[in-house]
Amino acid sequence: MPEPTRSRRVYLETYGCQMNVADSELVGGILHNHGYALTTELEQADVVLLNTCAIREHAEQRIRGRLGSIRARKRANPDLVVGILGCMAERLRSQFLDQERLVDIVVGPDEYRKLPLLVENAFAGEKGVAVRLSRIEDYDDIVPLRTDGISAWISVMRGCDKFCSFCVVPFTRGRERSRPLGGVLSEVRDLVGRGFREVTLLGQNVNSYRDGSHDFADLIGEIAAVDPLLRVRFTTSHPQDMSDRLIDTIAATPNICKAIHLPVQSGSDRILKLMNRTYTVDHYLRLVDRLRQAIPQVSLSTDLISGFPTESEEDHAMTMELLTRVGFDGAYCFKYSRRENTRAWSMEETVPDEEKGRRVTDLTRLQQAIAWEHNEAIVGTAEEVLVEGPSRKSERDYAGRTDTNKVVIFPHRGEQPGTYVRVRIERANSATLFGSVVQYASAEGGTL
Ligand code: 5AD
Ligand code: SF4
Repeated sequence: MPEPTRSRRVYLETYGCQMNVADSELVGGILHNHGYALTTELEQADVVLLNTCAIREHAEQRIRGRLGSIRARKRANPDLVVGILGCMAERLRSQFLDQERLVDIVVGPDEYRKLPLLVENAFAGEKGVAVRLSRIEDYDDIVPLRTDGISAWISVMRGCDKFCSFCVVPFTRGRERSRPLGGVLSEVRDLVGRGFREVTLLGQNVNSYRDGSHDFADLIGEIAAVDPLLRVRFTTSHPQDMSDRLIDTIAATPNICKAIHLPVQSGSDRILKLMNRTYTVDHYLRLVDRLRQAIPQVSLSTDLISGFPTESEEDHAMTMELLTRVGFDGAYCFKYSRRENTRAWSMEETVPDEEKGRRVTDLTRLQQAIAWEHNEAIVGTAEEVLVEGPSRKSERDYAGRTDTNKVVIFPHRGEQPGTYVRVRIERANSATLFGSVVQYASAEGGTL
């Protein structure tokens, strides 16, 4: 490695999902191995990288806006190297260099190993694009650069083979592939050794994890066995891949969290079919029943899309009805955004933007009322909470989460991040629980 790169500083900004957050830590690891230092100050950077998202038009617009402010930095420092990583890089490829003259390098999600070379070339004035998708790249040997803390993201599989008709992910992240169980396990052991108390296993479609001899139930079971004080979460689950064995493993293992993110997208069978979601509302409801039977305290959350082509008022009413029937603890509602390459790209848009907005507001309001009702029912009970640290709003309050992923705020009386405490819940709104610590869960701060 040539000497001059040693002191160069990289500013890395991340957009989009948790997979991107995990990818940014990989990128940090790769660059760190090549002598680069990361900085949190844009003004101090020699290299600015944006790890981008392409899931909706709106995400891309935000990133274009950000490039506008970086343009001013580049004017002040013409040697600044600007790179676009991730899904938008993969989608637009070399077009990006034509559209945004300040961009020097464009790197897709499977090409991060080439980053040090591309950055080096960019310093020498050569622009570069690396956007090949791979069937095997899993970065299993790369140690992500993480700041020590309580909670870590671990990417266990990449890509998606589902091809939902609205979704650009199979085109930007390529085919599904899983890391070997052994590699994930040693990463978890290392994290536990460093004091982490929670891991979230990530995959676009994490339940279809398969490393040749193990499936997701094997993986999560083995990870949970590393340390009973480690909380294990996972996201995102496709309803089609929720096997009975996985449900049984979650039910039987105390430190696998009882919170499942299970995107349903729509409550109308006709729309689900057009979306290529491969299940019906009835299948979904039966899956919810199975989950609730096996794991009575399970907390469910979901994603919804409003305004998919041909979605009628009646289809929308069915989605509203589904929300009421399932009783989710949380739902992310999105306006449909037409994405190039997807199957739905060729479907005519029939729902005006304003109407999509109205439907999203409808769904969000209903969901807030449902979540508020759920949270009200928790008032008066004592919940086990993993302490994370000071709350966002006040230094005197601390925040943590329940097993079911609800945020709990309580007055701080010396509780240490990473310990488990019992909090009596005194009040609640649709997003947060508030209470006071009643006792430590155990002498050293934690049994699960
Ligand atoms: N338009 C709107 N929402 C989308 N999602 C994925 N693709 C689109 C799109 N084209 C939503 C889905 C998915 C979540 C991550 O983003 O609800 O579950
Ligand atoms: Fe996109 Fe569907 Fe794959 Fe999720 S499962 S990433 S929505 S194609």
